[in-house]
Amino acid sequence: MTNTLPAWSTLQTHYEQIRDERLRDWFASANDTAPTRAERFTFAGGGLAADLSKNRITDATLKLLAQLARESGVEARRDAMFAGEIVNPTEGRAALHTALRATEPDAPFHAQVLAERAKMASFADAVRSGAWTGYTGKRIRHVVNIGIGGSDLGPKMVVHALKHLATPDITSHFVSNVDGADLWRVIEHIDPEETLAIIVSKTFTTLETMTNARSMRAWFVRNGCPESELAKHFVGVSANPAEVVKFGIAPDNVFEMWDWVGGRYSLWSAVGLSIMIAIGPQQFDELLAGAHDMDRHFRDAPLERNLPVLLGMIGIWYRNFFGSQSYLVAPYSEALHYLPSYLQQLEMESNGKSARLDGHLVDYPTAAVTWGEPGTNGQHAFFQMLHQGPTIVPIDFIAVLTPEHPLGDHHPKLLANCFAQSEALMLGRTEEEARKVAGPDKPELVPHLMFPGNRPTTTLLVDALNARTLGALIALYEHKVLVQAAVWNINPFDQWGVELGKILGKVVEADLTAAPGDVKQHDSSTAALIARARDALKHEGASGS
Ligand code: F6P
Repeated sequence: MTNTLPAWSTLQTHYEQIRDERLRDWFASANDTAPTRAERFTFAGGGLAADLSKNRITDATLKLLAQLARESGVEARRDAMFAGEIVNPTEGRAALHTALRATEPDAPFHAQVLAERAKMASFADAVRSGAWTGYTGKRIRHVVNIGIGGSDLGPKMVVHALKHLATPDITSHFVSNVDGADLWRVIEHIDPEETLAIIVSKTFTTLETMTNARSMRAWFVRNGCPESELAKHFVGVSANPAEVVKFGIAPDNVFEMWDWVGGRYSLWSAVGLSIMIAIGPQQFDELLAGAHDMDRHFRDAPLERNLPVLLGMIGIWYRNFFGSQSYLVAPYSEALHYLPSYLQQLEMESNGKSARLDGHLVDYPTAAVTWGEPGTNGQHAFFQMLHQGPTIVPIDFIAVLTPEHPLGDHHPKLLANCFAQSEALMLGRTEEEARKVAGPDKPELVPHLMFPGNRPTTTLLVDALNARTLGALIALYEHKVLVQAAVWNINPFDQWGVELGKILGKVVEADLTAAPGDVKQHDSSTAALIARARDALKHEGASGS
């Protein structure tokens, strides 16, 4: 069991020794002699840099965390994943997202991966050049990606992040929610003659995706597209090609992914077709190359200087020793707007578990609540709580050093805010300092002007946001999740926790429209909610007829 490992109890003792130490004191110039904390705790890998110096760590902490990673078998878990072993035992599968970006000819499934990517590239080129046309001969101007979870969040995040590299001829849309408003808000503004739908679903059975796909098909037909011409407007991406063809998508328009690619790790596969159409095959290769840079760093760098290991272990430090409940990702980049929601799935669907690999339940916390919002927006919303609330929330700041737009003085302001926030969170404001700010006339303000400080942050630095650095950034977080899974001794590649709600959802859906005598028994709360909805739906039906 993890917490009986020697490094775990040494870390516990170490935590008790340093938990009251203050970052402010460690950074005070007399204590911070060469090499400085910034020098000692800034690490590079895969083209990215991470400044860990504003974390509540000493050299000894990092040594012990690396030792815990070693004792937890991080290296063995990593090597097994790269080698294609069954690292997802509850589903009997490998997890080979790294093979999707490997360049080594002996990488697992290499020929298969290259063949599917070549098929994607020729299709993407045809759509981008205008050679691929809709049923009236018009070129494609709108691509609608229909998928949910891993079949949506990754492509949506990347297409948004790399908008500055995307073709201006095509607008990308992402529809995921079974709430019809999601699809409606897209299709009411676009012309079916110029629209391509990409239906993405690993299983091709997901309720939301299949409902949206059917409504999309009906929309094409309703708007004049003959059934026989639908092939010009529909492609499918799935690990279940038979089901795609059954849905009515032409076999030539089916792009394959495989069961050894997890949904939330799949943007590197044909699931990324919308990305490739937006930025082109060459830039897609750059995205893969960036991820591969990080894969190599993760595989080769010593644990003590290994970015995914360091990020993962810092997370363990706060979650399991400081008892932090949540952790914030704050990209100071509008381009990375969707990174926090992408990471929510990656971190919480992967590691939000209680059963260990050996079937016993954990007696320690696993995945923290992951949340976030781009800076500077968050500063004007929830940063109050980060600075003065009683709860410590560790933060990953992400700063992009050069902008991807030409707008004059915005960027220095953006970066200044990012760096100043981590400085303020670290320094805080003492009672004495608050007294000076309050002035002699307002002593009652002193408690309100005090900041506890000592709030830990990591700052990730990206020189410029491009396909390569973005690929590395995503892979960094993918591997961080594996590192934490190894320490928690859990399987990050399954997601049984989503099943129960799906099963009960089908029963409730039937109950919403069943004859009164056929509604199933539920607890009084669920029964009352169903009754209210049955009433509302009846009225909606009445007014619609
Ligand atoms: O229900 C959760 C989940 O299975 C995710 O793991 C997955 O990314 C998402 O649903 C979509 O699944 P699919 O790609 O099979 O439609």
